[in-house]
Amino acid sequence: MTALQKAESIRVRKGGRRIAALTAYDYPSARLLDESGVDVLLVGDSLGMVVLGFPDTTQVTLDHMLHHVAAVARAQPQALIVGDLPIHTYDTPEQALETARRLVASGAEAVKLEGGLRQAEKVRAITEAGIPVMGHIGMLPQRVIEEGGYRKKGKTPEQAQAIREGAQALIDAGAFALVLESIIPQTARLLTNCLSVPTIGIGCGHGICDGEVAVITDLLGSYPWFVPPFARTGADVAGITREAVVRYISQVRGD
Ligand code: KIV
Repeated sequence: MTALQKAESIRVRKGGRRIAALTAYDYPSARLLDESGVDVLLVGDSLGMVVLGFPDTTQVTLDHMLHHVAAVARAQPQALIVGDLPIHTYDTPEQALETARRLVASGAEAVKLEGGLRQAEKVRAITEAGIPVMGHIGMLPQRVIEEGGYRKKGKTPEQAQAIREGAQALIDAGAFALVLESIIPQTARLLTNCLSVPTIGIGCGHGICDGEVAVITDLLGSYPWFVPPFARTGADVAGITREAVVRYISQVRGD
């Protein structure tokens, strides 16, 4: 399947079988997640926090993204590989297209960028060049410093309406799906009901959107130092790792 066909296979899931998306940052996790049947592998700029040790995503560079997208692409997954455009690599439509092309050259099949109305022309520039775009609305992690923290969105009818207008502008510009981040469930449901492309929620409640995305380290319990309250945790990889390492150290030292 071509990248466009894969993105289209996600778009047509609107209102149908829910889309399961996970972040992936390297070859082994991409292979394991793909073999388990996930629909979308998002090489998210969350890698800045959970892989590179930055306090947030605002220090992630395009070089970081290219490195990790290439590792994920080497797994040749059936799942759609979506690569994030990092902060300040899409300040103009021309720059957005150039960045998207570089991510595609590294193996991304679609790209994601953050923001609503003000990003519509950038989305249009990328989609008109034949590269599928996933939007990202609600809480925008790349703006965490300006906003002073991770806050819930869509709490008032005015906020909900502004998010809806932004979402519609992204769809009109050609976005095939939208990540909804930390939007209160009532508003996320309303958006899901009125938008024509799949909504993929994180921090919006379960079973509300057309799909969900999770950060793989939250799901696996492999980054225990910061776990968002909404995370669905399915394993304790940090605990297993510590146990195995303590056992190894003891065996080596003969304690
Ligand atoms: O970077 C990321 O992992 C993301 C998800 C939180 C949606 O954008």
